[in-house]
Amino acid sequence: MEVVTRASEMKTLSCRVKESGDVLGFVPTMGYLHEGHLSLVRASRKECDITVVSVFVNPTQFGRGEDFDKYPRDVERDKAFLEKENVDILFIPEKTDIYPEDDIEYIEVDEKLTKTLCGASRPGHFKGVATVVAKLFDIVRPDKSYFGQKDAQQVVVIKNVVKNLSLPVEIKVMPTVREDDGLAMSSRNIYLSEDERSQAASLYKSLSTAKGLISRGNKSSEEIKRIITKILENEKNVKIDYVEIIENERFIPVDKIKDNTLVAIAAFVGNTRLIDNTIINGKNEE
Ligand code: PAF
Repeated sequence: MEVVTRASEMKTLSCRVKESGDVLGFVPTMGYLHEGHLSLVRASRKECDITVVSVFVNPTQFGRGEDFDKYPRDVERDKAFLEKENVDILFIPEKTDIYPEDDIEYIEVDEKLTKTLCGASRPGHFKGVATVVAKLFDIVRPDKSYFGQKDAQQVVVIKNVVKNLSLPVEIKVMPTVREDDGLAMSSRNIYLSEDERSQAASLYKSLSTAKGLISRGNKSSEEIKRIITKILENEKNVKIDYVEIIENERFIPVDKIKDNTLVAIAAFVGNTRLIDNTIINGKNEE
């Protein structure tokens, strides 16, 4: 595995891959890798000739008071995982290669897609995500790029950027990878104490209960929201940020649940904010 730290070198390598006619797959990450990331890597390895993974903890997607400083970082650990997966190139850019000026030119994101869910709770977050992903795409020039369904809103925002800027990259969305008790894998799970870790399973529990009820014919968003809320509120240390039931990809609230409805939740477990979702009879359903 080649480790590249400069954008110019990464660009040269990407051009070489392109010229050879190979398909380049790209998995952007903020590091501290887990099985969720590795599932994206494996998908890229399967579908593409060359796989590039980036590790960059992007400061612009963290709000004031959020966990940028304490976000887990362990490049040696990440390298070991990626070597094992036979990744071709690990790109660990310098901050100045991504943001050469202190005055950052941001990509504007569609407000319709970001005024709800995490966009409402974390103002500016998706502007930072869209900007860094567009910059990384410009450097890496991937044919395909891989993201997890856990970050449902991020996926929609990125697809929208790709469409509006006519970027020549296909966005591939892979199912959420879960721990044995259903907790969605996340680098932030490391923050959880033992008690919080077991309470965190209530997010998945609430979604699977909702899904079961919906499949048995309960299509009322209001009722399903109420049931999810009750399950989460019953758990000590869990504080709901949002429970939303919306049309997937368009993020319009629905009264009656139908196919391709997104049930999305965010909750603090102790001080750790976790998100999860499920799509009712959707394409990326687990
Ligand atoms: O999902 C993430 O880890 C980040 O938001 C991403 C896409 C790598 C951008 O920093």
